[in-house]
Amino acid sequence: MPATTSVILNTGAVMPTVGLGTWKSKPGQVEHAVEFALKNGYKHIDTAAGYQNETEVGQGIKASGLPRDQMFLTTKLDNSDQRHPANALEASLKKLDTTYLDLWLMHWPAPMTKDGQADKEHDWLDTWKTMEDLYLAHPEKLKAIGVSNFSVEYLERLLKVARVVPAVNQIELHPSCPQDDVVEYCQNKGIVMTAYSPLGSDNSPLLKNETVTKIAAKYDVQPANVLISLHANKPMHTVLPKSVTNERILNNAKIIDLTPEEIGELHDIDKTHHFRACHPSWTGFGSLGFPDCK
Ligand code: A2P
Repeated sequence: MPATTSVILNTGAVMPTVGLGTWKSKPGQVEHAVEFALKNGYKHIDTAAGYQNETEVGQGIKASGLPRDQMFLTTKLDNSDQRHPANALEASLKKLDTTYLDLWLMHWPAPMTKDGQADKEHDWLDTWKTMEDLYLAHPEKLKAIGVSNFSVEYLERLLKVARVVPAVNQIELHPSCPQDDVVEYCQNKGIVMTAYSPLGSDNSPLLKNETVTKIAAKYDVQPANVLISLHANKPMHTVLPKSVTNERILNNAKIIDLTPEEIGELHDIDKTHHFRACHPSWTGFGSLGFPDCK
Protein backbone atom coordinates (compact mmCIF):
# COMPACT_ATOMS: atom_id res chain seq x y z
CA MET A 1 0.00 0.00 0.00
CA PRO A 2 1.26 3.54 -0.69
CA ALA A 3 2.27 5.58 2.35
CA THR A 4 -0.58 7.44 4.05
CA THR A 5 -0.70 11.18 4.73
CA SER A 6 -3.49 10.82 7.30
CA VAL A 7 -5.54 8.22 9.15
CA ILE A 8 -9.13 8.22 10.40
CA LEU A 9 -9.73 7.79 14.13
CA ASN A 10 -12.65 5.79 15.59
CA THR A 11 -14.29 9.20 16.23
CA GLY A 12 -14.28 9.93 12.49
CA ALA A 13 -11.65 12.65 12.91
CA VAL A 14 -8.68 12.93 10.56
CA MET A 15 -5.21 12.64 12.14
CA PRO A 16 -2.21 13.61 9.97
CA THR A 17 0.26 10.73 9.74
CA VAL A 18 3.43 12.66 10.56
CA GLY A 19 3.52 14.88 13.64
CA LEU A 20 6.32 16.78 15.33
CA GLY A 21 7.43 15.02 18.50
CA THR A 22 8.55 17.22 21.41
CA TRP A 23 9.73 14.74 24.06
CA LYS A 24 13.16 16.00 25.20
CA SER A 25 12.75 19.26 23.22
CA LYS A 26 14.25 21.75 25.61
CA PRO A 27 12.77 25.06 26.70
CA GLY A 28 14.26 27.73 24.50
CA GLN A 29 14.19 25.39 21.49
CA VAL A 30 10.72 23.93 21.28
CA GLU A 31 8.79 27.13 20.55
CA HIS A 32 10.88 27.71 17.45
CA ALA A 33 10.65 24.04 16.40
CA VAL A 34 6.84 24.10 16.59
CA GLU A 35 6.60 27.44 14.78
CA PHE A 36 9.01 26.29 12.08
CA ALA A 37 7.25 22.94 11.60
CA LEU A 38 3.80 24.51 11.29
CA LYS A 39 5.11 27.14 8.86
CA ASN A 40 6.58 24.36 6.75
CA GLY A 41 3.73 21.96 6.24
CA TYR A 42 3.38 20.04 9.51
CA LYS A 43 -0.21 19.90 10.75
CA HIS A 44 0.25 17.72 13.81
CA ILE A 45 2.03 18.52 17.07
CA ASP A 46 2.49 16.16 20.01
CA THR A 47 3.32 17.25 23.54
CA ALA A 48 2.63 16.20 27.13
CA ALA A 49 2.21 17.85 30.50
CA GLY A 50 5.13 15.72 31.62
CA TYR A 51 7.46 17.25 29.03
CA GLN A 52 7.02 20.59 30.80
CA ASN A 53 6.98 22.42 27.50
CA GLU A 54 3.25 22.98 26.88
CA THR A 55 3.52 26.77 27.37
CA GLU A 56 6.25 27.03 24.75
CA VAL A 57 4.43 24.68 22.40
CA GLY A 58 1.41 26.97 22.69
CA GLN A 59 3.59 29.99 21.93
CA GLY A 60 5.01 28.21 18.87
CA ILE A 61 1.50 27.47 17.63
CA LYS A 62 0.53 31.14 18.01
CA ALA A 63 3.73 32.35 16.34
CA SER A 64 3.15 30.08 13.34
CA GLY A 65 -0.05 31.94 12.47
CA LEU A 66 -1.69 28.64 11.47
CA PRO A 67 -5.35 28.67 12.53
CA ARG A 68 -5.99 26.22 15.36
CA ASP A 69 -8.59 24.28 13.37
CA GLN A 70 -6.01 23.48 10.71
CA MET A 71 -3.79 21.42 12.99
CA PHE A 72 -4.04 18.34 15.17
CA LEU A 73 -2.84 18.86 18.74
CA THR A 74 -2.19 16.08 21.27
CA THR A 75 -1.20 16.36 24.89
CA LYS A 76 -1.08 13.83 27.72
CA LEU A 77 -2.28 13.53 31.30
CA ASP A 78 0.77 13.37 33.53
CA ASN A 79 1.24 10.38 35.85
CA SER A 80 1.25 12.71 38.84
CA ASP A 81 -2.15 14.13 37.81
CA GLN A 82 -4.04 10.83 37.70
CA ARG A 83 -5.97 11.66 40.89
CA HIS A 84 -7.32 14.94 39.43
CA PRO A 85 -7.65 14.75 35.64
CA ALA A 86 -10.18 17.60 35.40
CA ASN A 87 -7.77 20.13 36.91
CA ALA A 88 -4.93 18.77 34.79
CA LEU A 89 -6.99 19.16 31.62
CA GLU A 90 -7.72 22.82 32.44
CA ALA A 91 -4.03 23.43 33.17
CA SER A 92 -2.98 21.91 29.83
CA LEU A 93 -5.56 23.94 27.89
CA LYS A 94 -4.38 27.11 29.62
CA LYS A 95 -0.70 26.46 28.98
CA LEU A 96 -1.30 25.51 25.35
CA ASP A 97 -3.56 28.59 25.07
CA THR A 98 -6.26 26.63 23.29
CA THR A 99 -9.90 25.84 23.98
CA TYR A 100 -9.70 22.19 22.92
CA LEU A 101 -7.46 19.19 22.34
CA ASP A 102 -7.71 16.97 19.29
CA LEU A 103 -6.44 14.12 21.43
CA TRP A 104 -5.79 13.68 25.14
CA LEU A 105 -3.85 10.59 26.21
CA MET A 106 -3.23 8.90 29.53
CA HIS A 107 0.56 9.15 29.39
CA TRP A 108 1.28 5.90 31.28
CA PRO A 109 -0.92 3.43 33.18
CA ALA A 110 1.20 4.38 36.14
CA PRO A 111 -0.13 6.81 38.74
CA MET A 112 2.63 8.70 40.53
CA THR A 113 2.91 11.12 43.42
CA LYS A 114 4.13 14.69 42.94
CA ASP A 115 7.57 13.66 44.14
CA GLY A 116 7.84 10.97 41.48
CA GLN A 117 7.04 7.82 43.47
CA ALA A 118 4.69 5.09 42.23
CA ASP A 119 1.23 5.80 43.67
CA LYS A 120 0.07 2.23 44.23
CA GLU A 121 -3.06 3.29 46.15
CA HIS A 122 -4.61 4.69 42.99
CA ASP A 123 -5.89 2.58 40.06
CA TRP A 124 -5.21 3.91 36.55
CA LEU A 125 -8.54 2.38 35.48
CA ASP A 126 -10.33 4.93 37.70
CA THR A 127 -8.37 7.64 35.93
CA TRP A 128 -9.57 6.33 32.57
CA LYS A 129 -13.17 6.41 33.83
CA THR A 130 -12.73 10.08 34.75
CA MET A 131 -11.18 10.81 31.36
CA GLU A 132 -14.23 9.18 29.75
CA ASP A 133 -16.56 11.32 31.90
CA LEU A 134 -14.72 14.47 30.81
CA TYR A 135 -14.78 13.43 27.14
CA LEU A 136 -18.50 12.63 27.22
CA ALA A 137 -19.39 15.81 29.14
CA HIS A 138 -17.11 18.18 27.22
CA PRO A 139 -17.00 17.44 23.50
CA GLU A 140 -16.07 21.10 23.01
CA LYS A 141 -12.84 20.54 24.96
CA LEU A 142 -11.91 16.98 24.01
CA LYS A 143 -12.27 15.70 20.46
CA ALA A 144 -10.78 12.29 21.29
CA ILE A 145 -9.19 10.41 24.18
CA GLY A 146 -6.67 7.62 24.13
CA VAL A 147 -3.78 5.95 25.89
CA SER A 148 -0.03 5.73 25.71
CA ASN A 149 2.42 3.03 26.75
CA PHE A 150 -0.33 0.39 27.01
CA SER A 151 0.58 -3.29 26.56
CA VAL A 152 -1.92 -5.94 25.44
CA GLU A 153 -2.39 -7.02 29.06
CA TYR A 154 -3.33 -3.50 30.13
CA LEU A 155 -5.53 -2.87 27.07
CA GLU A 156 -7.47 -6.06 27.79
CA ARG A 157 -8.19 -4.84 31.32
CA LEU A 158 -9.26 -1.43 30.02
CA LEU A 159 -11.50 -2.69 27.21
CA LYS A 160 -13.44 -4.97 29.57
CA VAL A 161 -15.05 -1.90 31.15
CA ALA A 162 -14.41 0.97 28.73
CA ARG A 163 -17.36 3.06 27.62
CA VAL A 164 -15.08 4.80 25.12
CA VAL A 165 -12.60 2.74 23.10
CA PRO A 166 -9.32 4.67 23.05
CA ALA A 167 -8.80 6.38 19.68
CA VAL A 168 -5.02 5.93 19.85
CA ASN A 169 -2.33 3.98 21.68
CA GLN A 170 0.96 5.87 21.49
CA ILE A 171 3.95 3.58 22.10
CA GLU A 172 7.64 3.32 21.30
CA LEU A 173 7.88 1.84 17.80
CA HIS A 174 10.92 1.40 15.56
CA PRO A 175 12.72 -1.53 13.92
CA SER A 176 14.42 -2.47 17.22
CA CYS A 177 11.11 -2.30 19.11
CA PRO A 178 8.32 -3.41 16.73
CA GLN A 179 5.85 -4.57 19.42
CA ASP A 180 3.88 -6.69 16.95
CA ASP A 181 1.57 -8.04 19.67
CA VAL A 182 0.34 -4.57 20.69
CA VAL A 183 0.03 -3.42 17.08
CA GLU A 184 -2.03 -6.45 16.06
CA TYR A 185 -4.28 -6.14 19.11
CA CYS A 186 -4.94 -2.43 18.52
CA GLN A 187 -5.59 -2.88 14.83
CA ASN A 188 -8.23 -5.52 15.61
CA LYS A 189 -9.93 -3.07 17.98
CA GLY A 190 -9.79 -0.09 15.62
CA ILE A 191 -7.21 1.74 17.77
CA VAL A 192 -4.70 3.82 15.78
CA MET A 193 -1.02 3.36 16.65
CA THR A 194 1.23 6.36 17.13
CA ALA A 195 4.96 5.64 17.03
CA TYR A 196 7.14 7.63 19.40
CA SER A 197 10.93 7.62 19.17
CA PRO A 198 10.70 6.33 15.57
CA LEU A 199 14.41 7.06 15.08
CA GLY A 200 15.33 5.31 18.32
CA SER A 201 15.66 8.63 20.20
CA ASP A 202 19.00 10.36 20.90
CA ASN A 203 22.22 8.94 19.35
CA SER A 204 20.27 6.11 17.79
CA PRO A 205 22.23 3.19 16.33
CA LEU A 206 19.36 2.71 13.86
CA LEU A 207 20.54 5.71 11.82
CA LYS A 208 23.73 3.74 11.04
CA ASN A 209 22.11 0.33 10.67
CA GLU A 210 23.15 -1.39 7.41
CA THR A 211 19.64 -2.33 6.33
CA VAL A 212 18.38 1.21 6.98
CA THR A 213 21.28 2.91 5.16
CA LYS A 214 20.98 0.50 2.21
CA ILE A 215 17.30 1.33 1.71
CA ALA A 216 18.03 5.06 2.22
CA ALA A 217 20.69 4.94 -0.51
CA LYS A 218 18.29 3.19 -2.90
CA TYR A 219 15.72 6.02 -2.58
CA ASP A 220 18.31 8.78 -2.17
CA VAL A 221 16.94 9.86 1.22
CA GLN A 222 18.37 10.04 4.75
CA PRO A 223 18.16 7.02 7.09
CA ALA A 224 15.65 9.01 9.17
CA ASN A 225 13.25 9.11 6.21
CA VAL A 226 13.29 5.31 5.98
CA LEU A 227 12.59 4.94 9.71
CA ILE A 228 9.75 7.48 9.65
CA SER A 229 8.28 6.16 6.40
CA LEU A 230 8.13 2.64 7.83
CA HIS A 231 5.09 3.67 9.90
CA ALA A 232 3.45 5.71 7.15
CA ASN A 233 3.54 2.52 5.06
CA LYS A 234 1.34 0.68 7.55
CA PRO A 235 -2.41 1.07 7.91
CA MET A 236 -3.68 2.91 11.00
CA HIS A 237 -0.26 4.23 11.99
CA THR A 238 0.95 7.73 12.75
CA VAL A 239 4.49 8.74 13.65
CA LEU A 240 6.21 11.45 15.72
CA PRO A 241 9.79 12.24 14.69
CA LYS A 242 11.28 14.68 17.20
CA SER A 243 13.70 17.37 16.13
CA VAL A 244 14.59 20.91 17.12
CA THR A 245 16.79 21.37 14.04
CA ASN A 246 15.29 23.25 11.06
CA GLU A 247 16.81 21.16 8.31
CA ARG A 248 15.88 17.90 10.02
CA ILE A 249 12.31 19.08 10.65
CA LEU A 250 12.03 19.82 6.93
CA ASN A 251 13.70 16.58 5.91
CA ASN A 252 11.67 14.36 8.23
CA ALA A 253 8.39 15.30 6.56
CA LYS A 254 9.49 13.55 3.37
CA ILE A 255 7.77 10.16 3.23
CA ILE A 256 8.65 7.42 0.73
CA ASP A 257 6.79 4.29 -0.34
CA LEU A 258 8.50 1.08 0.79
CA THR A 259 8.04 -2.39 -0.67
CA PRO A 260 6.67 -5.24 1.50
CA GLU A 261 10.14 -6.84 1.28
CA GLU A 262 11.81 -3.69 2.62
CA ILE A 263 9.29 -3.50 5.45
CA GLY A 264 10.10 -7.15 6.24
CA GLU A 265 13.85 -6.47 6.21
CA LEU A 266 13.40 -3.54 8.60
CA HIS A 267 11.35 -5.74 10.92
CA ASP A 268 14.07 -8.37 10.97
CA ILE A 269 16.46 -5.90 12.65
CA ASP A 270 14.77 -6.62 15.99
CA LYS A 271 15.80 -10.29 15.81
CA THR A 272 19.44 -9.36 16.33
CA HIS A 273 19.22 -5.90 17.88
CA HIS A 274 16.38 -5.16 20.29
CA PHE A 275 16.29 -2.04 22.44
CA ARG A 276 13.92 0.45 24.02
CA ALA A 277 14.73 4.14 24.36
CA CYS A 278 12.25 4.30 27.24
CA HIS A 279 11.95 1.29 29.54
CA PRO A 280 8.63 1.25 31.48
CA SER A 281 10.32 0.29 34.76
CA TRP A 282 11.19 3.98 35.36
CA THR A 283 7.58 4.39 36.58
CA GLY A 284 8.05 1.99 39.50
CA PHE A 285 5.43 -0.40 38.05
CA GLY A 286 7.85 -2.92 36.51
CA SER A 287 7.20 -4.18 32.98
CA LEU A 288 3.65 -2.74 32.66
CA GLY A 289 2.84 -6.00 30.90
CA PHE A 290 5.25 -5.62 28.00
CA PRO A 291 6.69 -9.11 27.29
CA ASP A 292 10.18 -7.85 26.36
CA CYS A 293 10.41 -5.99 29.70
CA LYS A 294 9.48 -8.90 31.99
P1 A2P B 1 17.60 17.08 17.18
O1 A2P B 1 16.30 17.25 17.90
O2 A2P B 1 18.74 17.73 17.92
O3 A2P B 1 17.53 17.50 15.73
P2 A2P B 1 13.22 10.30 17.92
O4 A2P B 1 12.32 10.97 16.93
O5 A2P B 1 13.35 8.82 17.70
O6 A2P B 1 12.84 10.63 19.34
O7 A2P B 1 14.69 10.87 17.70
C1 A2P B 1 15.03 12.17 18.05
C2 A2P B 1 16.52 12.33 17.96
O8 A2P B 1 16.95 12.17 16.60
C3 A2P B 1 16.95 13.69 18.40
O9 A2P B 1 18.23 13.56 19.02
C4 A2P B 1 17.04 14.47 17.09
O10 A2P B 1 17.98 15.51 17.20
C5 A2P B 1 17.54 13.40 16.15
N1 A2P B 1 17.09 13.58 14.76
C6 A2P B 1 15.89 14.05 14.34
N2 A2P B 1 15.83 14.03 13.00
C7 A2P B 1 17.01 13.54 12.54
C8 A2P B 1 17.54 13.29 11.26
N3 A2P B 1 16.85 13.56 10.16
N4 A2P B 1 18.78 12.76 11.18
C9 A2P B 1 19.49 12.51 12.30
N5 A2P B 1 19.04 12.72 13.54
C10 A2P B 1 17.81 13.23 13.68
